[in-house]
Amino acid sequence: MKLSSLSPKGLFHRVRRRAAVQTIQPGDPRLPQHVAIIMDGNGRWARKRNLPRTAGHEAGLQIAREITQECVRLGIKYLTLYAFSTENWKRPKHEVSFLMNLFYDSLQKVTTELHDEEVRIRFLGHIDQLPPKLTALIKQVERQTAGNQRLTLNLAINYGGRHEIIQAVQGLVKKAQEQGLEPDTITEEQFARFLFTAGQPAPDLLIRTSGEQRISNFMLWQTAYTELYFTSTLWPDFGPDSFRAALSAYKRRSRRFGGIKEGRRK
Ligand code: IPE
Ligand code: IPE
Ligand code: MG
Repeated sequence: MKLSSLSPKGLFHRVRRRAAVQTIQPGDPRLPQHVAIIMDGNGRWARKRNLPRTAGHEAGLQIAREITQECVRLGIKYLTLYAFSTENWKRPKHEVSFLMNLFYDSLQKVTTELHDEEVRIRFLGHIDQLPPKLTALIKQVERQTAGNQRLTLNLAINYGGRHEIIQAVQGLVKKAQEQGLEPDTITEEQFARFLFTAGQPAPDLLIRTSGEQRISNFMLWQTAYTELYFTSTLWPDFGPDSFRAALSAYKRRSRRFGGIKEGRRK
């Protein structure tokens, strides 16, 4: 322990920091409505323990479950988890097939539980390119949970922001051809209706774990005004306390969307 943290001032700071984290109350209107997470660092977590990378993915899955629970508890309405990118196919075959099996098994296991908690599960990404068994399960889970309104859990699997934008352009062009749409009349709102996140608010907060400070092709359109939060904590170590610390940091941010802070008009 550092000497400074033993001094009354250090103690005060520590208590104050803890107090800030503890002020996260369910239903607080200053909480984000939509949190998106780049769950990174599973491989490094495993390597540190001399375990195979796959053990890191298993541990990471537990954390995803805990954070989902925390969002339900806090009344956060949307949670988006980046689980597999369009670039992750570059990984060794055995890791990719382990992940596909993990997605399948865990979806089978947790869907009923999440359904009981009134969680709607949606998928963002190129779903039809996944193993057929997984694609079929995904469609069934989406149907089964479609009426739930407590939390929308978006699972981004085989997701790429550039792919999402291209497929939105394709959808819009098709519509234009069929209905004779004038290019000049196309609005941002119209375009956004062709994204996987159609009808959902943009993320207020984007968290990336593991110390990397990049977007890695995640929600390129939607994060235009999202608050970014980077932490060196590896994803399997990112429990509800770390999540609440991120929410506290978010609450201290001043979002201006290009304007000026309210009350400072002179
Ligand atoms: C994130 O952890 C999970 C996926 C991308 C599926 P990583 O597997 O990228 O872990 P690191 O970055 O190698 O530590
Ligand atoms: C981003 O992590 C993708 C997911 C978390 C699913 P990566 O580990 O694939 O990102 P890079 O390669 O470090 O940018
Ligand atoms: Mg990684």
